[in-house]
Amino acid sequence: MGTNDMSATINIHTPEQKASGDFYGQYFWKDYDVQDAGFLRFIVDHVGHERLLTASSLLDIGAGSGKFSILLKQAYPHLEIEALDVSPDNVNTIEANAAASGVDISVTEGSVLGLPYENGKFDIVLCVYMLQHTPDPQRGFLEAARVLTSGGTVLYSIGRENGLGIVHTKTRGLFGKVPSSLRRSTVLPFVPLYWSLLKATGSRKASENDLTIDLVDWLYNPLQKFVSESEMVSWFDEANLSYTPLGYTGLFKSMHVCRGIKIERHS
Ligand SMILES: C[S@@+](CC[C@H](N)C(=O)[O-])C[C@H]1O[C@@H](n2cnc3c(N)ncnc32)[C@H](O)[C@@H]1O
Repeated sequence: MGTNDMSATINIHTPEQKASGDFYGQYFWKDYDVQDAGFLRFIVDHVGHERLLTASSLLDIGAGSGKFSILLKQAYPHLEIEALDVSPDNVNTIEANAAASGVDISVTEGSVLGLPYENGKFDIVLCVYMLQHTPDPQRGFLEAARVLTSGGTVLYSIGRENGLGIVHTKTRGLFGKVPSSLRRSTVLPFVPLYWSLLKATGSRKASENDLTIDLVDWLYNPLQKFVSESEMVSWFDEANLSYTPLGYTGLFKSMHVCRGIKIERHS
């Protein structure tokens, strides 16, 4: 099925999706520090240095601030990097951040639910911390795999249903009426507690700004679609990807990091 056929069968620009795309730009991406070596390490550790060295093209889906694309271009200048985001505002921010960092990457406005690329175009695809903010994570998952070349590597980090769904829904219900200008300040008192919980559960270290982003996201992002682990594993099969689980990040291990390699098809 071609990209246009996919876009025709689903409305990929619902008001909820637009609000979800604009959400980060509104709160964070404009003054975001993209030069944090920890972010580069996250990708290199999970994708693999050798794979990054031998690949020639990489797609960063839901690129946000552009941090992964920018850091990767600086570390692996031979890579042709395409950063894609659904929000025009974020696209502008990625372009500005790339220019300020002096790197040459392509930036495209588009949705993971109907990627504007032919099958098998990229050697590496990143789909990190973004599928749960779309109306259809499964479709996005399969789209990311579709544009991956045979033998190519895709890195997913996906919101996982970890048994706290009801707590999450109720808390979001309570906070739902807070005006957008006050949202950031409502989570600040909880940042130290969140930091301690992450430390106690051995999750990734993060800056205060990142922890604030996590909390605002958890409470206020209009689209939060977590999926069960077994469902997610079945998508790897459906997409003809090998499955390598790489652990969890976030509070109560709510984000599942996993890698797939597209299995070569012999006709
Ligand atoms: C949590 S941020 C993650 C950004 C980046 N991947 C990172 O890890 O820092 C989610 C990003 O996905 C983008 N996004 C949401 N829905 C999308 C969609 N359907 N297609 C492409 N990008 C989308 C948002 O605009 C936002 O920038």
